[in-house]
Amino acid sequence: MQKEKPVSFSGIQPSGNLTIGNYLGAIRNFPAYSENYKCFYCVVDLHALTVRQVPAELRRRTYETLALYIACGLDPEKNTLFVQSHVPAHSELAWILDCFTMFGELSRMTQFKEKSAKHADNINAGLFTYPSLMAADILLYQTDVVPVGDDQKQHVELCRDVAQRFNNLYPDTFTIPEPIISQSGARIKSLAEPTRKMDKSDPNPNAVVYLLDDRDTIIRKFKRAVTDSETSVRYAPGKDGINNLMTIYSCFTGKDFAAIEAEFAGRGYSDFKLAVGEVTADALAPVQAEFRRLMADKTYIEDLMRKGAREAAICAARTLTKVKKKLGLVLI
Ligand code: TYM
Repeated sequence: MQKEKPVSFSGIQPSGNLTIGNYLGAIRNFPAYSENYKCFYCVVDLHALTVRQVPAELRRRTYETLALYIACGLDPEKNTLFVQSHVPAHSELAWILDCFTMFGELSRMTQFKEKSAKHADNINAGLFTYPSLMAADILLYQTDVVPVGDDQKQHVELCRDVAQRFNNLYPDTFTIPEPIISQSGARIKSLAEPTRKMDKSDPNPNAVVYLLDDRDTIIRKFKRAVTDSETSVRYAPGKDGINNLMTIYSCFTGKDFAAIEAEFAGRGYSDFKLAVGEVTADALAPVQAEFRRLMADKTYIEDLMRKGAREAAICAARTLTKVKKKLGLVLI
């Protein structure tokens, strides 16, 4: 299949309110691809079903996630923005890829181990085969690059293995995708337990800064962030809380760690925490204003969902038809 441009694909689950981890590790990096790549960014609502969802909340967050893509700088004219369940080819290819993905491979996935420990009463088959659906998302679009946070690298690597296995049996079917992990912000940590990643489904709201938190809430959460008992702002092993805050400050200001250490030399943690809160709130204010403007017009969002689904379905159908032919499924 001849491509005009290389393809970028990524997805976000509408399984909770988006956090600055999702923003710094993923969304904020997406717009850079708009000029030189054909870009697909998906709201992966089917993946969210692997954990029990309240239907009205899932619906609301699906609209919100699409609106946030745009509010964070993705122009819907230059990017295909769509909802996973609107393109049935994702589920179809996922089943096919399930048949090319090994039990052992899926058992080794860190996210499966973590989520099954957390939801011990609901270790469903979807949670286990989650990476096959994710591989289907990526492979349907003949994707070259997948910009994601560090925690998704393992899933993209499994996707590569499955694609290679399929290509060995049926040559030239899939493009082998490359995970792109940003240099900074790829693993933003919880403010309450800074050894763990910041997670949108964390039950403790003070551990997480949401993209839609108001200024006072953002500043309050950073003031309460867990840090060590030292006082000097410096990046060093074991200082997980301060290292995380320095990473966030660096992402929002573009300053490196040496410059941050110099800026806060002789000042305590409380000054620094306030500054991190302020730069975060300043950076998010325009995103929030644009988000509110977009959410006031649901019809516009629905029109975009329809447009995105139409564009995505055309590309997805090409790959799915090719896969079916290669496998010997009868096409009528
Ligand atoms: P999800 O919804 O958990 O997260 C969306 C994106 O945000 C990144 N991310 C983070 N980055 C830095 N620090 C953090 N604390 C942090 N938390 C989340 C994630 O790495 C991700 O890039 N399985 C995926 C969604 C998905 C997908 C795909 C991604 C489904 N199909 C195809 C890429 C391509 C997930 O659960 O992301």
